[in-house]
Amino acid sequence: MTNQRMKVALFDAHGYDRESFTAANEHVGHQITFVEPRLTGETAPLAAGHDVACSFVNDRVNEAALAALQQGGVRLIALRSAGYNHVDLTAAARLGLKIVRVPEYSPYAVAEHAVALVLALNRKIHRAYARVREWNFSLEGLVGFDLHGKTVGLIGTGKIGRVAASIFRGFGCRVLAYDVKQDAQAAAQYADLATIYREADILSLHVPLTPATHHMIDEKALSTMKRGIMLINTGRGALIDSRALITSLKTGHVGAAGLDVYEEEEGIFFRDLSDKVLQDDVLARLLTFPNVLVTSHQAFLTREALSNIATTTLANITAFERGEKLENEVLAQQLIQP
Ligand code: NAI
Repeated sequence: MTNQRMKVALFDAHGYDRESFTAANEHVGHQITFVEPRLTGETAPLAAGHDVACSFVNDRVNEAALAALQQGGVRLIALRSAGYNHVDLTAAARLGLKIVRVPEYSPYAVAEHAVALVLALNRKIHRAYARVREWNFSLEGLVGFDLHGKTVGLIGTGKIGRVAASIFRGFGCRVLAYDVKQDAQAAAQYADLATIYREADILSLHVPLTPATHHMIDEKALSTMKRGIMLINTGRGALIDSRALITSLKTGHVGAAGLDVYEEEEGIFFRDLSDKVLQDDVLARLLTFPNVLVTSHQAFLTREALSNIATTTLANITAFERGEKLENEVLAQQLIQP
């Protein structure tokens, strides 16, 4: 082993990050500084003197942040995520900063969370839990439906969508899928979006956020969906136009929504704001619906996923240190790919 002494500033560090990175780094030996604030233009100078800035999904890695990182000596941005929509790739390329990511850490973690949202919403577990704690043992309003025989629509049959397809097939669901690239191995029948919107009882989103997928679930798409549809989003918040979703929930056109991501989650999710007044009126409205379940971008949060994220991130950093080919590099031209 070479003298692995890359200095890494790990932003938005939480207790679980410290645990997983400290364990994975034990035999690797990079020097990690855990930095609590999110990475933004204002906090980027905290990385001065480090070789690497390690970033998570709600950082704002824009041109100002990247320029400040570069000025402080950072040469590599190591994302602890698969998604890279929070990074200005063009500015990074211009500044000569390399970007690496963790393309796969546990598709099971995310797909299983999507299914957890479906089951909880369908059988109203969140309401039942609150009721019995107040000794209200009534079943009124808790009627669900059999998943068996229902149609599930999946948008995106990449790593996560494929796992979701297999799980839903296990429940006896008919699985329809849409993807720009079809995968012959997927446990799903491919269909166009119009068919999926018309026939799906449950729709789950597993595509990345790109200009092509931004607000793909808008007023028009929602209006063509089957009345009472359950919408699940563990992809990225801005796949859905949240205001249009609220309108559809109010009319009952959307029967339930399980949201692990929200388009304005930056600065809200991952934080304890229980002492504060929530300033985001759209999120506040979403949280008033009994048939909406919001989780705070936690679909990835399993022990296995955290361990894989730490191991791959450290391996990405080691490859950079050794001047090896960066297998997990994100290139600026990936912006224009689907
Ligand atoms: P993947 O890259 O394996 O699969 C994405 C699929 O989307 C590909 O098959 C691709 O062809 C398809 N696609 C891309 N653009 C499309 C378009 N315009 N229309 C239709 N299909 C399109 O990615 P993976 O690992 O399955 O992850 C999917 C997304 O899940 C990530 O991009 C990320 O945003 C999100 N994610 C969320 C997490 C969470 O904790 N909530 C954790 C990990 C990922």
